[in-house]
Amino acid sequence: MAGYTIDELIGQPHNIIRHPDMPRIAFKGLWDDIQTKGFWTGIVKNLRKDRGFYWVHATALRRTHSDGSVTYLSVRRVPDRAVVDSCIPLYAELKSAE
Ligand SMILES: Cc1cc2nc3c(=O)[nH]c(=O)nc-3n(C[C@H](O)[C@H](O)[C@H](O)COP(=O)(O)O)c2cc1C
Repeated sequence: MAGYTIDELIGQPHNIIRHPDMPRIAFKGLWDDIQTKGFWTGIVKNLRKDRGFYWVHATALRRTHSDGSVTYLSVRRVPDRAVVDSCIPLYAELKSAE
């Protein structure tokens, strides 16, 4: 979806696909929830390599393994159009408050 090859993504930080329209508080919520509850679900606007964008309904999960290591997984679905339409003004308002 982001327009990168796997080789271009391996080793890169996840924020390579961070879209500038996304408010910081959304990612604060993601990291807070993933640390305290172990999961987070939300609507994210992501940046494509060609500077386009795509919306995802993401469920991010944290797993702690028996050796103490931690891994993350994110399952992405096509979001409902109505939900995206409600996020656009909300995210714009949160962004303008930064
Ligand atoms: C499992 C998981 C999935 C994530 N998915 C995205 C994503 O789709 N888009 C995104 O911009 N950040 C995602 N993030 C958050 C990024 O790691 C990062 O916090 C965010 O892009 C904001 O960048 P910053 O922390 O440098 O401000 C995800 C994090 C985790 C743990």
